[in-house]
Amino acid sequence: MELKAIGCEPLQLKMMHIENGHTLEVYQEHGGYEALKKAMNMSSDEIIDEVKASALRGRGGAGFPTGMKWSFVPRDSPKPKYIVCNADESEPGTFKDRYLLERDPHALIEGMLIGAFALGVETCYIYYRGEYHYLIDVMDKAIEEAKAANLVGENILGSDFTCHFYTHTGAGAYICGEETALLSSLEGERGHPRMKPPFPAVEGVYACPTVVNNVETLTAVPQIINMGGETWRDLGTEKSGGTKLWSVSGHVKKPGVYELPMGYEDMEKFILEDCGGMLRDDKKLKACIPGGSSVYAMRADQIIGKKVTLDYEGLVEGGSLVGSGGFIVIDETVDMVDSTKNLTEFYKHESCGWCTPCREGTDWLTKIFNRIADGGGRPEDAQLILDLCDNIEGKSFCALGDAAAWAIQGAVKRFPEDFKKHLLPNGNGNGNGNAL
Ligand SMILES: Cc1cc2nc3c(=O)[nH]c(=O)nc-3n(C[C@H](O)[C@H](O)[C@H](O)COP(=O)(O)O)c2cc1C
Ligand code: SF4
Repeated sequence: MELKAIGCEPLQLKMMHIENGHTLEVYQEHGGYEALKKAMNMSSDEIIDEVKASALRGRGGAGFPTGMKWSFVPRDSPKPKYIVCNADESEPGTFKDRYLLERDPHALIEGMLIGAFALGVETCYIYYRGEYHYLIDVMDKAIEEAKAANLVGENILGSDFTCHFYTHTGAGAYICGEETALLSSLEGERGHPRMKPPFPAVEGVYACPTVVNNVETLTAVPQIINMGGETWRDLGTEKSGGTKLWSVSGHVKKPGVYELPMGYEDMEKFILEDCGGMLRDDKKLKACIPGGSSVYAMRADQIIGKKVTLDYEGLVEGGSLVGSGGFIVIDETVDMVDSTKNLTEFYKHESCGWCTPCREGTDWLTKIFNRIADGGGRPEDAQLILDLCDNIEGKSFCALGDAAAWAIQGAVKRFPEDFKKHLLPNGNGNGNGNAL
């Protein structure tokens, strides 16, 4: 398992290989909490302006500019304000936040404190996915250490800034990574998404202004304050600032978490050289899903020789999205109908059932994929699947529906040869062709 920066100094991965890097003492030996001290001598606007200048975009999947999100919080609101760290990390193929939480918890606390100081927040929550329960102890210990050092709690570093931290786990539902469902779950309700607008920045947890940010977004904040927003931005590109973590899995020799400067050239080199090349030397690259399962898979011919840059703009141009950076490499042995069936089952299972297009649509899609897997595929199924996706995409209550549709549409549109093999007139005659 690689934990490695390529093309830049490790920033997000700085503490990964340092013994006891998760402790306050070692974190401070490496410059920890200097950014907080610096920020506490800045005004709220100056801090937000630095984050804006950095061109940091949210690393949870949607890529929303972080400084702009922070500026939406009504600072003159008489209500309490909150920062919630989204540590749900449930997007298939994504496992970068886990290393930050385990090996660099103080970077997250420091990033949240800087945000809290800027926005007048006195309470921060860190919401973990249920499966990360085992990591909560590390964070709770880090919070206790920070408290003992007067970095968390009342009158931080002798100032009038007070900020308390709480950790909380979900029960393992993918939908609780969606920010409004997460807030419902945090309040002790069932994890259903909420209507937007109002957006959480205005009306979030307990109907109060709330910033929800991903772990990696928040751990970037101390770096930005330390080096200045523009300097951090210039590590990447003008619109995609800084560095980014990619969770690499699948058919490569060296899977792991890689930190790359945004705009890294190019995707082919990254797969075939930096990640050690294809797992089996005699097997060719067939596809790559670069941003977690919810984005379009790219065909090898969209990658090889195409100099796709790894940043928000480059991947859109290349035909996909950065998403959560869950980079899944697929070789030619994989049948995209089989792998998409797997994803379809995931989305059906994780659909919260709140709205009809997603609840029913993902169920129908699963039935069709199961029938195809049983040998009952029909030539018209490709179009039927696309029609169903069309009835989910843009018509569902939250982005889980869109995500399910994109993952499946991408496979049908980009790998028609795999579907063709399965979609035979009258199926293969095993009698399952009439399942729908
Ligand atoms: C179904 C679904 C699951 C999501 N899961 C996560 C997740 O596990 N972690 C995360 O940070 N964001 C997740 N998001 C995105 C959040 O809704 C939100 O955009 C993000 O936490 C905002 O933080 P950022 O601006 O720092 O990216 C998910 C979104 C959807 C629709
Ligand atoms: S789109 Fe799916 S997950 Fe989102 S509210 Fe509707 S049923 Fe629930």
